[in-house]
Amino acid sequence: MKIENMELLKPITINGMTLKNRLGNAPFGSVPSGDGDGYINDNTIGHCRTLIESGVGMLMTGPIRVYPEVSRFIGSSGVGQDKEQKRPIGTASLVDDSYIESWKKLVDFAHSHDCKLGIQLGEWGPQALNSMSDLKEENKKYKYLALGQGELPEQHIMTVEELEKIIEYTAQGALRAQKAGIDCVELHAAHSTGLLFANALDPFFNNRDDEYGGDVGRRLNLLVKTIKRIREVVGPDYPLLVRINGDDLKGDLGHTSEDVCRHIVPVLEAAGVDAIDVSMGGPMYETQGPLPPVYYPRGCWMYLARAIKQDTKLPVIGVGRITTIEMAEKYLREGWADIIYMGRQIFADQNTLQNFIDGKKEYQETRQCIACLKPGCIDCSVNYDRFGTMRPGFKRATLDRVENPKKVLVVGGGVAGMEAARVAALKGHKVTLWEREGNLGGIVATLATTPLTSEFQNIVDYGSYQLSKLEVDVRCCCVASVEKIKAFAPDVCILATGAEMPLPDFLQDGLMVMSHLEAMKRKREFRSLAQWKKEVVVYGFTAAEFAIDLSEAGANVTLMGPAGESSIGSEGWVRRERKYFLQRKLTDINYIRRTPDTYRVHNPRVLTHAKLEGVGNDGVHYYHNGIHKTMPYDVLIYSGGRKKNDDLFEAVQQYVSTVHKIGDCDSIGNITTAIQNANDIARNL
Ligand SMILES: Cc1cc2nc3c(=O)[nH]c(=O)nc-3n(C[C@H](O)[C@H](O)[C@H](O)COP(=O)(O)O)c2cc1C
Repeated sequence: MKIENMELLKPITINGMTLKNRLGNAPFGSVPSGDGDGYINDNTIGHCRTLIESGVGMLMTGPIRVYPEVSRFIGSSGVGQDKEQKRPIGTASLVDDSYIESWKKLVDFAHSHDCKLGIQLGEWGPQALNSMSDLKEENKKYKYLALGQGELPEQHIMTVEELEKIIEYTAQGALRAQKAGIDCVELHAAHSTGLLFANALDPFFNNRDDEYGGDVGRRLNLLVKTIKRIREVVGPDYPLLVRINGDDLKGDLGHTSEDVCRHIVPVLEAAGVDAIDVSMGGPMYETQGPLPPVYYPRGCWMYLARAIKQDTKLPVIGVGRITTIEMAEKYLREGWADIIYMGRQIFADQNTLQNFIDGKKEYQETRQCIACLKPGCIDCSVNYDRFGTMRPGFKRATLDRVENPKKVLVVGGGVAGMEAARVAALKGHKVTLWEREGNLGGIVATLATTPLTSEFQNIVDYGSYQLSKLEVDVRCCCVASVEKIKAFAPDVCILATGAEMPLPDFLQDGLMVMSHLEAMKRKREFRSLAQWKKEVVVYGFTAAEFAIDLSEAGANVTLMGPAGESSIGSEGWVRRERKYFLQRKLTDINYIRRTPDTYRVHNPRVLTHAKLEGVGNDGVHYYHNGIHKTMPYDVLIYSGGRKKNDDLFEAVQQYVSTVHKIGDCDSIGNITTAIQNANDIARNL
């Protein structure tokens, strides 16, 4: 593809605002206000820097505070009201004119990179904070609500007067944005009950019976009145975008794609918006919407943008797990959208666009998002350069090349070992990496063999490729020992020997009993087991994805665990989207289950509150509902805690002056902690 012919690199004009290209940075939550007082300062610019420098035509922020009376996110992100001054603190603000001047710094920075700056406007809705397990039958229908005043969280049904204030505050916010030189505003009316405008639109969650609820026309009233009022104050020539759900994903309980095209888009068009940004769903009742997790296909919501694009003359913005420039280009060329928003991919690699322009087309050149959705995704798991941008004053060592390169030995080629080796090599050290197995990637590569988490392989492929480019001497099938390390005589030894998942004593003698990790490595064996419909018992909900995988392949799988169904997918290191996805699949918890058929798979049978007691010739012994039971099995897979593998650490210290432990070998963690820890240690060599 010739760069000069690329649709993505062609400018586009939206109501007088010309973007240099058709790639935007998707709205990404609160913009920190530097010192926490609502004003923009260098810390804020630090937070946005790599996103703006990434070469996007536009950076769109998440919702900026414009409502002086309604506070939100108290506690959860440190944003609340300054009680003394009655002024919101934390996230960047435009709540009164005093903030305008400070925004000009960010505007100037964006413009110095020929990047347009947009801000979202929209007050949070009732479920911005709630988790799905809080859903009670009686709460299913909301009159639309805002987070209440003062000490939150408490829900508060908006009065008509309050809604009128919301309209006015939003319009005044838009006017201040215009005065600050911000290039456009985007009304955030997507994501259902997460946002007030979306809550108003949602037929399931809005059961008001006044002028702001009832039929679709009345549900649109809040948004339409806001759009019209904004137009009155900013005039006809200021670009006004709106983000909506392309489908509520609730079947006949919400708006389908057809409803949106037929009943919502034309009204917005007539009311005077300049572009439609198409997102999906809501945080409460389904997982797929705001932040599609790893389980969803790349480009998952683009079909909704295409549907709207076919029905409107307005420019349409598409989004959703778009991870390569090639994908973005294809969607543009085929007319699915006019602009592509990339969110997490630009967190994962700020050079995504530039690498492509520079002709670095191998996918491993660019670090691809793994859609892991760990909490606070802005501190990207796989990209340490994005780490700490929300923390004013966070410092990291530079990647400057060292004057006196050291001989560095990294033992273990999981993601921690690869990251340490990569960063040490970037700094100019002479790096060797030994890996016991025949391939790199450790546990992460093993997890990536399950289709639901196959995106994890991205970081393994990236690491492997970068190591070969940086000429790191990688030796696979190389088992380290103290003697070998002593003979190698490195200046620095970094131990990244990972962790094991040992079987408990009471399972040691069982036949065809193995740990989750071992089972994943022996996956080919299971493929044939699955074909023969063998009985597979998986113990431990952390192996839920693997259980689903085996089940889909045809095995008769029972997934059991000692805890209740609400614990499934609840490990703290991933966002609630994992939990929601797995719980919707595997439990009877009362979520709204209107999911497109394409995402349904054959499920394992799930036994909660089942405690494994042992295994014998007669089967798996377990305790369930007060009874000791036995279940026949062909394979028992045990998913339990991991134990760090740091046996070499003490002994090696006798022979090598500098020894570090990183990743699981130092402390059992996850991809994020492994990469942060490894990168940090290697930067400081
Ligand atoms: C950390 C994070 C924060 C987000 N915050 C917002 C937001 O404030 N407003 C919004 O409309 N969407 C928000 N989103 C959704 C993104 O704009 C985007 O639609 C979504 O991440 C899918 O795009 P991606 O797969 O390219 O990341 C957020 C996403 C992430 C990952």
